[in-house]
Amino acid sequence: MIQILKNEKNQQLFFLNTSDTSLVLFVPESRHVFIPHWGGKIEPTDIGYIIEEISRASYLPDADGKKNFKLEQMPQIYPSYGYTDLREPAFSFRWKDGSRITDLRYRSYSTYRGKRKPERLPAVLSDEDSEVLEIVLCDTLKQTEVTLVFGVFEKYNAITQSVLVKNKGEEAFYIEKICSANMDLLFSDLDLIHLSGAWGRECNIKRRHLEQGIQAVGSTRGAGGHGQNPFAALVSPDTSEDQGEVYAMNFVYSGNFLAEVEVDMHENSRFQIGIHPFEFEWKLNPGYEFQTPEVVLVYSGNGLGQMSRTFHKLYRECLMPTRFRNQERPVLLNSWEANYFDFTRDSLVSLAAQAAEAGAELFVLDDGWFGRRDDTTTSIGDWIPYEKKLGGNLESLISDIRKRKIAFGLWFEPEMVSPDSELYKQHPEWVIQVKGRRIEKSRDEYVLDLANPAVCEYIIRSVGKILSENSISYVKWDMNRNFTNTGSLYLSPEQQKELPHRYMLGLYHIMETLTKEFPDVLFEGCAGGGGRCDPGMLYYMPQIWVSDDTDALERLPIQYGTSLVYPSIGMGCHISDVPNHQTGRRVSLETRAAVAMWGNLGLELNFNKIDSAEKIQIKKYIGFYKKVRYIIQFGDLYRLKGLEIGNEYAWMYISDDGEKILITYVQIMSRPNTVSKRLRLTHVEKQALYKDTLSGRRFHGSELSEIGLEIGKISRDGDSQQWLLEKVSEKDKGQI
Ligand code: DGJ
Repeated sequence: MIQILKNEKNQQLFFLNTSDTSLVLFVPESRHVFIPHWGGKIEPTDIGYIIEEISRASYLPDADGKKNFKLEQMPQIYPSYGYTDLREPAFSFRWKDGSRITDLRYRSYSTYRGKRKPERLPAVLSDEDSEVLEIVLCDTLKQTEVTLVFGVFEKYNAITQSVLVKNKGEEAFYIEKICSANMDLLFSDLDLIHLSGAWGRECNIKRRHLEQGIQAVGSTRGAGGHGQNPFAALVSPDTSEDQGEVYAMNFVYSGNFLAEVEVDMHENSRFQIGIHPFEFEWKLNPGYEFQTPEVVLVYSGNGLGQMSRTFHKLYRECLMPTRFRNQERPVLLNSWEANYFDFTRDSLVSLAAQAAEAGAELFVLDDGWFGRRDDTTTSIGDWIPYEKKLGGNLESLISDIRKRKIAFGLWFEPEMVSPDSELYKQHPEWVIQVKGRRIEKSRDEYVLDLANPAVCEYIIRSVGKILSENSISYVKWDMNRNFTNTGSLYLSPEQQKELPHRYMLGLYHIMETLTKEFPDVLFEGCAGGGGRCDPGMLYYMPQIWVSDDTDALERLPIQYGTSLVYPSIGMGCHISDVPNHQTGRRVSLETRAAVAMWGNLGLELNFNKIDSAEKIQIKKYIGFYKKVRYIIQFGDLYRLKGLEIGNEYAWMYISDDGEKILITYVQIMSRPNTVSKRLRLTHVEKQALYKDTLSGRRFHGSELSEIGLEIGKISRDGDSQQWLLEKVSEKDKGQI
């Protein structure tokens, strides 16, 4: 709920309150906007004194000539550089006279229900449950307005923020930096948590204590990348899954980003996130506007677990395409690790038939079905079926496969082009490049210049043609390289630094158009695994292939880290062959299945290489998964072990109605001769009685929480155990 208070000094306070949290903004006589509080919920009351009592020594003049009033010491919501604040600014504009000083002061506010979608960008939206506060700031000398747009999602405990800049003056100016959110906190005894890694080991949790100075994570690769996810959280040092204070930001954007924390000499922390300023500049002509992507701000007073559940629910109910929010996701088989490029019509149909027999509901034909594609060297961009290899046209192959009672999905990599392709021959100028300089290939491909509308139209037309002419119910949208030699032959010299952001706007336009035109097609985002895993993608593509690393044990830290922010229903997790193709490791099928049940279970294996006993086992696991997937996909996740890197991982889901609980435990290295171990469950109803449907045993909730489930004898590395608990109804209780 948004509540506004005016005190007797005519100062204003804005309370952006959700069920359990508050973000409070304070506008004193100077008309700056300060943050007296971001944290647990407080009822509207005059807390402007928090700001007014700040006064510390520094080598700066007084702002506005007011004694001891220095912006550098104030917790500001959208600070500039140069008056009496010399910290990292939230934004920087370069004016026609070359100056970079901007003085934003509060001008007005408005509120309304039902958050609107920012133009050309993905967003968290909910008609019923969102309220909006717009705060208009203005630099009167340059007639420029900056509107801070806050969305308050009360029942979800989340706030969104974006920024709209309007040039109402008579001169063009350049936006050099533009954060989507900035939070100044009056303390710094905090840890920074972020999700980092590399290809094959994405989203590992990193944690470090803040020190005076700047600490940052970001990407200038044209996408978030495998290295850094656009998420950062500041947490109190005691923070674990169930305790501690968490201040989190997640950027609803899939391109270059920077998340930064500056701890200043007064032990304040400036926490901000936005488009990375390094490869960015935007010329804003008179009469024009610039809209930033938005940020989701989450505060949790009960540790990381609560933060994650807040993101999960918000993203499932208010971010993912409406059509897929409440729909169980299919069990799929992806052909990549089974065949790579080496397949025939018969091998595909046989794989699909065996997948269907095992219970899979969707067969996905990965790379290699188009142009003349038999390896990575050709044909990306030529989205025309390779009929010779497919043994006929695509529709007849699909029809053969669908006869096996399994739906059909197809792989694309629309943003790239092979130098050896018809598309490149016709349009070499469509590639990201700097004139006169060598264009570098990565995985034998170039990046298309999506700042050019003609390129976007080509992608929409060519992908759209395949989707409209064939019975395709799923698309895997891949992206396998980052930008180098960033330049556009389409944009003018002075627009070159606009390219990375214009690329994203082009991509979002393509996705918006295709997902609208084909609303029933389930899109899965992929960028060599999790190289572009962010809420911007989830807005269009409600699931993401989170890593190319399919080794079950390697997947544990990846899925743990990814689940910090992204819901299980958004994660593709597959059972693959052993020895694993990335690590050479052999993990039992039982554990491979248990780990793949962290998200949307799929298969990525070659049925011809496994024996009939394993086929039966796979069928059993798929059957079990189908019974419990509503708990995983729509329930609440509780991580029980794994935050401190160790030998054990455990996690559980409680179904939406609280009736069922699915628990999984995995031990990485087996150890002989240890005492019996137990897994204590958090968040179960202590008064309830539960029955383990797998063993038949009954447990009191209090027993599960105080003593725990017995972990059986571990006899091999990577062993696992699962329990499916069901609440015992009142009428059956007497039987214990
Ligand atoms: C990279 C993806 O992450 C893989 O799953 C697979 O689709 C290959 N690309 C195909 O080229």
